[in-house]
Amino acid sequence: MPESRCLQGIWSSPWIFIFAASGSAVGLGNIWKFPYVLGQNGGGAFLTIYCLCLLLVGLPVLVAEVALGRTVRSNPIDTVNDLSERRVVHPAWVFVPWLAGITGFLILTFYSVIAGWSIAYLDRAVSGELVGITQAGASNMFNGLLAAPTEMLLWHSVFMALVVLTVGQSVTRGLSTIVRILLPVLIVALLLLASYSMVIGNTHAALDFMFRWAWQDVTFEVVLSAVGLALFSLSVGMGAMFAYGAYMSKRMSIARACSIVVGVDLLVAILAGLLIFPLVFSFQIDVQAGPSLTFVSLPIIFGHLLAGQFFAGVFFLLMVVAALTSAISMLELFVAWLHERFYIARLNAALLMGVAVWSVGVAVLLSFNHWDSKLVFGLNLFELLDQFTSLVLLPMGAILLSVLVAWFIPRSMLQNEMITKRASHFQWWYNTLKYISIPAMIVIVVAGWIGV
Ligand code: PFF
Repeated sequence: MPESRCLQGIWSSPWIFIFAASGSAVGLGNIWKFPYVLGQNGGGAFLTIYCLCLLLVGLPVLVAEVALGRTVRSNPIDTVNDLSERRVVHPAWVFVPWLAGITGFLILTFYSVIAGWSIAYLDRAVSGELVGITQAGASNMFNGLLAAPTEMLLWHSVFMALVVLTVGQSVTRGLSTIVRILLPVLIVALLLLASYSMVIGNTHAALDFMFRWAWQDVTFEVVLSAVGLALFSLSVGMGAMFAYGAYMSKRMSIARACSIVVGVDLLVAILAGLLIFPLVFSFQIDVQAGPSLTFVSLPIIFGHLLAGQFFAGVFFLLMVVAALTSAISMLELFVAWLHERFYIARLNAALLMGVAVWSVGVAVLLSFNHWDSKLVFGLNLFELLDQFTSLVLLPMGAILLSVLVAWFIPRSMLQNEMITKRASHFQWWYNTLKYISIPAMIVIVVAGWIGV
């Protein structure tokens, strides 16, 4: 396969892949979703299972996705079309990249609304509304935002416009520079804020909650949530990492690069937990509050901090940029495909997809207010999309993609990729994917769905 990709070019340095992939992985999933899902699933046991899922499912599947992307240097849809034309796989497999793309599309419809909340909080932080805020004030502020569809619409539209403009450019340009600055600053900011939160909050209860194992919290539903969150957080199962792998230099060991991405992703999630839970327990916020957890507890720390207005502004700005570097990878699959297959200019392709995502997003934001009583299976549209993507589509996408790589792509083709530097490590990865990750995902998904 050629080193240079036909239409997009290659990341200029192997490290750029790590930055870009970390940019996709680290986002609202770590700062917003991880704390609330941990809160809803009981804490310590979930965290341990989550770490195991990252290691035994997330990492091998991530390596598989990136490896396939780099082997073929194309977008996922054309890749599988091409493989089926060469009779490597049955034409029915074309369904898999479509499923992956649709999953990314659906995730972006609500991701953009939540990113819009972050912009709304950035706006409030800059205008000084968080200074001296109390717990009751923070709850009222969040409820006030949910009850204001016009404001949510404004920020959702602003975020989608940013996504479209960024994806409209070639993703290899500029992204790594943003992430290279963003990631270290985000980690330092989280470290400082988490330390402060542990000083003013109930650290004992928080650590006990986050790290204490309790057998009664272990059910297949909890394990399924952990798998879903691990895949969501690593951006795996949606073709996003496949697309980034397609731009990766051949010189980099894929396993090494992916391990770094997983490590960074977990670090950011744990720091977000250490920031939020001491406040949750100190200010008696309901640990099971769900999606509001981060947005109700975070303002409290800024209300207490010296120069809280400044820190709040910086933090919410980092959160918005982190959301942006994740969101662009959700659209990349379809944009790259429209561009490479139909020669539609990237900006036009991004605009087309962006308008479609935006429209569904409008319905999502209305599900927090005007349409909050319109329920399907007892869930509003946001909850439905969130759970359907995390618990059904993502695991299905990850299973099918892994089966494709492990059972259908010729082993020699993968062995030629520099998946690891040592041949024995290749065997290790291949066997883990085949005999641990895939069976584990199938068992967990089936058992979780039937509610064992
Ligand atoms: N991994 C991102 C996060 O944790 O916020 C979310 C995400 C990015 C999901 C890209 C899906 C995707 F394709």
